[in-house]
Amino acid sequence: MSIKKHDHAQWSSSFGFVLAAVGSAVGLGNIWKFPYMVGESGGAVFVLTYLVCIALIGFPILVAEWLIGRRGQKNPINSFADVAISENKSSAWGIVGGVGILAGFIVLSFYSVIGGWALNYITKVGTGSFVGQDSDAIGTTFDAMLAAPGTLTLWHTVFMVLTALIVGVGVTGGIEKAAKVLMPLLGLILVFILGYNVLNGGFAEAVSYLFTPDFGKLNGDVLLAALGHSFFTLSLGMGIMVAYGSYLGREVNLLKTARTVCILDTVVALAAGLAIFPIIFNHGLDPASGPGLIFVSLPIAFGDMTAGTLIGTLFFLLITFAALTSSISLLEPSVEFLEERTSMNRTMSTIVASSVIWLLGVAALLSFNLWSEFTIMGNGIFDILDKVTSKFLLPLAGLAAILFVGWQLSQDSVRRELGLSDGAWSLWQIVAKFIAPVGVLIVFISSLMS
Ligand code: TRP
Repeated sequence: MSIKKHDHAQWSSSFGFVLAAVGSAVGLGNIWKFPYMVGESGGAVFVLTYLVCIALIGFPILVAEWLIGRRGQKNPINSFADVAISENKSSAWGIVGGVGILAGFIVLSFYSVIGGWALNYITKVGTGSFVGQDSDAIGTTFDAMLAAPGTLTLWHTVFMVLTALIVGVGVTGGIEKAAKVLMPLLGLILVFILGYNVLNGGFAEAVSYLFTPDFGKLNGDVLLAALGHSFFTLSLGMGIMVAYGSYLGREVNLLKTARTVCILDTVVALAAGLAIFPIIFNHGLDPASGPGLIFVSLPIAFGDMTAGTLIGTLFFLLITFAALTSSISLLEPSVEFLEERTSMNRTMSTIVASSVIWLLGVAALLSFNLWSEFTIMGNGIFDILDKVTSKFLLPLAGLAAILFVGWQLSQDSVRRELGLSDGAWSLWQIVAKFIAPVGVLIVFISSLMS
C-alpha cells in the first residue's frame, strides 16, 4: 500500500486506497480549521455552502484528479502533460501539477505550526494543566503559547521532523496501516465528547447554530471561504490525489470511492463542530475567535469530565496522528519533485524540502507574536499563506483539473472509465462541464465584488 515510485506498484486493494485518501483528507482541516471557519463565517450558512461545494464541486474534482492520475501513471506534472499530449492537447497542462506542488509546499508550512500546537497540547493536557480550570484560565494558557515564539518554534520543529522522518525513510505505508486503527479511535473519542455535550448543555444551541442558516449572512467572502475549505479538506488542487490516482487499479470504481471519501471527511468535520460548539455556547466563548477555537474550548471539557486527562491526552495524540497522515501527503510531492529533477537522493531531497518549508513555517508562527505588526491588507504572514493557497491556488488548480476532464479529454473514454449508464452520464456531464467550473468562477467573481 506504500507509494513506491519506481516499480509503480498498484494499491493492493481499493480499501488500501480509500485508507490513504482518507488519511490525507481527514486532518487538521476537519478538526481545527472547519470549526473556526464556521465560527468566523456566520455558522450554518457556511456549513450549508460548504456541503454544497463538497457535493457539486469537490466530489467531481476528486474524481477528475484520480482519473488523470490513473491515466497518466506518473507524478502530477507528468500525468497532466502526458495525458494532454495523448489527446493532442498542449503539454502546458503540466503547469497545473506544478502549481499544485507549490501549493502543498506552502500549506505544509503553516499546517506544521498547528500540528505543533496539537503536540504541545498533548503535554499540557497530559500533565493535568487544565483540571478544574475555568475558561478564562484556559484562554490565557493558549494566548501565552501564541506569545512565545520559542515554544511555537520548538513544537513546529518536532512536527516537521516527524513528517520528514516518515517521508524520508519511506514508511508512509506503515503509517497508513496504523491509521486503520487510530482513525476510528479518534472517531470514538469525538462521539464520547458529543455524549458529554449532550449531558452538559449547549447541544441544542450548537445544532441550531450549525444547521439553521441565516441567509442574510451569505456573501462572497462566505462563499469563497466555503469553497476554499472544501478544496483544503479533500486535499484537492495539490496534485496529491493525482499522484494517488496513479497507483489506482483499473477495477476501482472512482465515483463510489470518491463518495466514500467525501462522506467520511464531512462526517468527521461535522462531528468536530458538534464536539466544540456546545462548549463554546455553554461557557459564553466567542465562536468567531479564530484559529485557537478548539484549543480554548475542548480543554474546558477535558478539565471537567471524569478521566478527562486521559481522554484529552488521547484526543490530542490522535489529532496529531491524523495531522501526520495529512502532512506526509503534503510533503511527498515536493520531495518526489526534487528527487526526480535534481541529482539529490531521497534523503537529501527530504532534508532540503522540509528545511525550506520549516523556515516558512517559522515566519508564519512569528506573525502571532514578534512580527504581528507586519501585515498586508490586514493579514499577517500566517493568514496570507493560508489564504493564498485555500482561496486561490487550490481552487484554481482544481478548476483546471475539472476543465481538463470535462472539456479536453475524449468524452467517450471518460464515460467508459466511469462506467456510467445514460442518465448518470448526462448528470456527470452537466456537473463536470458546467456546474463545477461555473461554480468556482461564480465564487471567485462574487468574492471580488464583496
Ligand atoms: N486535507 C487535509 C486536512 O484537511 C490537509 C491536506 C492534506 C491538504 N493534503 C492536502 C490540503 C493537499 C490541501 C491540499 O487536514
